[in-house]
Amino acid sequence: MPLNDAATDTFPINGTDHIEFYVGNAKQSAIYYQAALGFKQVAYCGPETGVRDRVSYVLQQSKIRIVLTSALLPEHEIAQHVHQHGDGVKVLALWVDDAECAYNTAIERGAESAFQPRKIQDEHGEVIVAAIKTYGDTIHTFVDRSRYSGPFMPGYIEKESAYPAKSVGLKYVDHCVGNVELGTMNQWVKFYEDVMGFKLLITFDDKDISTEYTALMSKVVSSGNGYIKFPINEPAQGKKKSQIEEYIDFYRGSGVQHIAVATDDILFTVGQLRANGVEFLYVPDNYYEDVLDRVGHINEDLAALRQLNILIDRDEDGYLLQIFTKPIQDRPTVFFEIIQRCGAKSFGKGNFKALFEAIEREQEIRGTL
Ligand code: FE2
Repeated sequence: MPLNDAATDTFPINGTDHIEFYVGNAKQSAIYYQAALGFKQVAYCGPETGVRDRVSYVLQQSKIRIVLTSALLPEHEIAQHVHQHGDGVKVLALWVDDAECAYNTAIERGAESAFQPRKIQDEHGEVIVAAIKTYGDTIHTFVDRSRYSGPFMPGYIEKESAYPAKSVGLKYVDHCVGNVELGTMNQWVKFYEDVMGFKLLITFDDKDISTEYTALMSKVVSSGNGYIKFPINEPAQGKKKSQIEEYIDFYRGSGVQHIAVATDDILFTVGQLRANGVEFLYVPDNYYEDVLDRVGHINEDLAALRQLNILIDRDEDGYLLQIFTKPIQDRPTVFFEIIQRCGAKSFGKGNFKALFEAIEREQEIRGTL
């Protein structure tokens, strides 16, 4: 399917700048991202750097930047966020050329402000940031770092850790998926169309995405250059509780469901992640019996994919390989997808059934189906 025309974007977005999680214990989460997911610690702020109320660790792997932030005081907004949602994504930050212009345009087009444009400076230069609200308590921060050369942002110091983190080959953020409450998907699709000039790329209804028990609907919006893709899910009526409802119950509202990160070599990446202790959803062996009838020729060895439980799908542009982690915190909410695109531009529709049955088996074990 063709990507949109970048000329229709309200303002240019160059990619994902960073993703910030509010977590209960950033110090310990930072070790998980290093030891399990292969990120390197690059920057830090906290009491030692003059920040009194919170700590943030910045982790990086290739173009992916993750910020892990915890409150130091119970009445802090970050502590309230964690109390309400558990560990979860607060900020999907977008890399723009002009943050003030992006913010002003978004507000004119109906976005709600999270915070107004501000210039932050240190000896490495300046960064302009501004933010708008999106679904749930999630926000989009616009970041212009064109006049900045420091490790992350003014206010952060460069700080590596003694942990010998080894990259697992994760390259960039491919897409970020939101789960929204029943009946609100179209409103959020319209938000991205109106405010950002994004285009609706694909629609999945409950006939595409349903198993015997559960159903959901999904629409994918994308920026014109395709660098930003936001699928948005809402629950649909099924015989039992859908995974989206389970998410919304535990997250206490709409929020980021998964972050898909791209690799050029999924066999290497998933092999490393498994060795590091990352847990993945399990798809039964019989998935592999007829998968090649469905997807045709692939370059990878099927036995190797089968051994790591990696899923395969094809669209008119090529094929893709993907796998989904189990939730990465105690609540059954946020998880990661690892994806290798071999031409394909879609999201693995052919795997939805196998995948949702895998999630249902987990829900069954949790007693939430
Ligand atoms: Fe995905």
